[in-house]
Amino acid sequence: MKAVGFIGSPRKGGNTETLVNEILAGAAEKGAQTSTYSLNDLNIKGCQSCFYCKGHPGCVLKDDMQKLYDEIMKADAVIIGSPIYMWQMSGQTKIFIDRLLPFLNPAYSLKKGRRKDLVLAFTQGQDDSGLFMPYYESTGEMLESVGFNIKGLIVAPGVNEKGEVKKQKDTLEKARNTGRDLFK
Ligand SMILES: Cc1cc2nc3c(=O)[nH]c(=O)nc-3n(C[C@H](O)[C@H](O)[C@H](O)COP(=O)(O)O)c2cc1C
Repeated sequence: MKAVGFIGSPRKGGNTETLVNEILAGAAEKGAQTSTYSLNDLNIKGCQSCFYCKGHPGCVLKDDMQKLYDEIMKADAVIIGSPIYMWQMSGQTKIFIDRLLPFLNPAYSLKKGRRKDLVLAFTQGQDDSGLFMPYYESTGEMLESVGFNIKGLIVAPGVNEKGEVKKQKDTLEKARNTGRDLFK
């Protein structure tokens, strides 16, 4: 049992990292082996639109994404966390998600065998948790089309200061329970 988390915020000890770690802590309680990657620390180039991945398994770009493909393939569950930047996911997260294109190749598809479970976690400065809900839902649908089973969406609204999400006990509890439920 393995869960891997991808953190799309550059801020160490920030709200997104806290939320992703909480979900992983829940998974670990149920016996899952966990690992995390901070996307900002990695060398991940933007998709080059070469469509190498249409005819071959994997991506032609030999950067840190190769390790992440491997981690996703080995995982039972994947957590993707991003802060909202200008009404959308962070650029670091978007570059990573564009690079999931190889999984649309049937030969490399996540849909083969058991699809990977996925939890999405978003943090936002604005208080209204419904404000970006259509965006969160369409992001989930897009990731379903890539081959993931969406098992949860955690949103932390009204968090601006680093680590402020720690004050939201309900959000943290939901995150931990969602992590536990991945491996029940
Ligand atoms: C460049 C930038 C743009 C942002 N845009 C938005 C936004 O459009 N809506 C919003 O609610 N919060 C916005 N925020 C606030 C962040 O989403 C929020 O502070 C989040 O908790 C940061 O996560 P972190 O602590 O993991 O870095 C923005 C923050 C930055 C740095």
